[in-house]
Amino acid sequence: MKLVIGSDHAGFPLKEEIKKHLDERGLEYEDVGTYDTKSCDYPVYAEKLCGKITSGECYRGILCCGTGIGMSICANKVNGIRAAACSDCFSAKFTRAHNDANVLCLGARVVGAGLADELVDLFIDTEFEGGRHQRRVDLITEIEKKN
Ligand code: RB5
Repeated sequence: MKLVIGSDHAGFPLKEEIKKHLDERGLEYEDVGTYDTKSCDYPVYAEKLCGKITSGECYRGILCCGTGIGMSICANKVNGIRAAACSDCFSAKFTRAHNDANVLCLGARVVGAGLADELVDLFIDTEFEGGRHQRRVDLITEIEKKN
């Protein structure tokens, strides 16, 4: 199963840097755009990317915008998506270990490419711990069902 990556215009340069890193690691991914720095609307790309995950085509995603926050707000509106905007290694690791996050959101105006690559690696390589954390993730799903 492959990853999926997407951005708006502000996140585009970081997306391209991350793609180079994924290529170096030999990891397969789909790029849902945007494909240049022309101004566009981040909710469009967040929804596209999340659809690739909820359909089962891709197992996890990376979204880049200026802050990472707009993308995370949009992605978390989609049932089955647990998105985390991260700018430090601890958060990137534990949003996988404890929240079973399936989308990592990065701010191109917040983190540089070097740190972003580290965050991506932690997000890809850290397994969900399950156990008591599974119960909590199930409770997140209950909130989705009720709302
Ligand atoms: C675009 O200027 C910017 O608002 C967007 O990339 C993002 O940071 C929103 O959260």
